[in-house]
Amino acid sequence: MKRDFLTLSDLSSDEHLLLFRRAHELKANRRQRTLEGRSLLLLFEKASTRTRISFEASIGQLGGHAITLPMQESQIARGETLEDTARVASRYVDAIMFRTHGDERLKAFAAAATVPVINGLSDGGHPVQVLADLFTVEEKLGEVAGKTIVFVGDCGSNMARSFCEAAPIFGFSLRLAAPEGYRPPAAELRGARVTANPAEAMQGADVVVTDVWTSMGQEAETKARLQALSAYTVDEAMVAKARPQAIVLHCLPAHRGEEISAGVIDGPHSAVFEEAENRLHVQKALLEHLILRR
Ligand code: CP
Ligand code: NVA
Repeated sequence: MKRDFLTLSDLSSDEHLLLFRRAHELKANRRQRTLEGRSLLLLFEKASTRTRISFEASIGQLGGHAITLPMQESQIARGETLEDTARVASRYVDAIMFRTHGDERLKAFAAAATVPVINGLSDGGHPVQVLADLFTVEEKLGEVAGKTIVFVGDCGSNMARSFCEAAPIFGFSLRLAAPEGYRPPAAELRGARVTANPAEAMQGADVVVTDVWTSMGQEAETKARLQALSAYTVDEAMVAKARPQAIVLHCLPAHRGEEISAGVIDGPHSAVFEEAENRLHVQKALLEHLILRR
């Protein structure tokens, strides 16, 4: 049976620990060609910089290669079904990463594919990014379990929703600071505490996370979102309320002056660029795990 990685819960807590251990090894020794001759399809229905580059580099450094297919250049744009595309692609490649809008599309695609499918960002989550984020927390601050992570801003975003999913798996406390209307569905909170007061959420924070206020596909709401979230910029005054050693994460792309100030993202608390690099290392471990069934 093939294994997919559509959500963080698709791996057990123990598998996540093993994955991080392997990612540390792969980061320390980048010349391991464990996926020689293997192929990975990258199918994009939305824009990307990091996901495309890091997955292409991941499989390439492991000795395999990537095929990148933007959806608008594929026959899907001319009416071929997702399912037929998944069935055919599964006969060519060893794994498929899919970046799509609807989570139903992701599930339908994965159900039809006969090779592992990885969620490369959907409206409901961004699990490979949250893996990189938590790996960065472990690298910078030690064990993730027991840490206090605060997500500030658009807490209805795919990133915040994956953080909610991650909290019980990795054993950290999660606080969400967001106005009403910008929070995850209640059923997804899984113990996360929600407040409209970011200053209060910051007390004792080890990690401060934010994301863009307007995610891909929400462009028509940009003005309303800017207004509703204007009190939630992660700036120097806000970060000063967290623990002195706190790190700040942002999955990027960032909008300096909106969800995060230039002083914070480019300042001493920021681990944003290590976080972006770590996409490479955790994804290499994930590809090995799914393709080689490690
Ligand atoms: N963080 C992230 O997934 O970036 P891209 O949209 O550039 O891939
Ligand atoms: N929430 C953002 C993340 C981008 C990597 C989006 O979906 O656009």
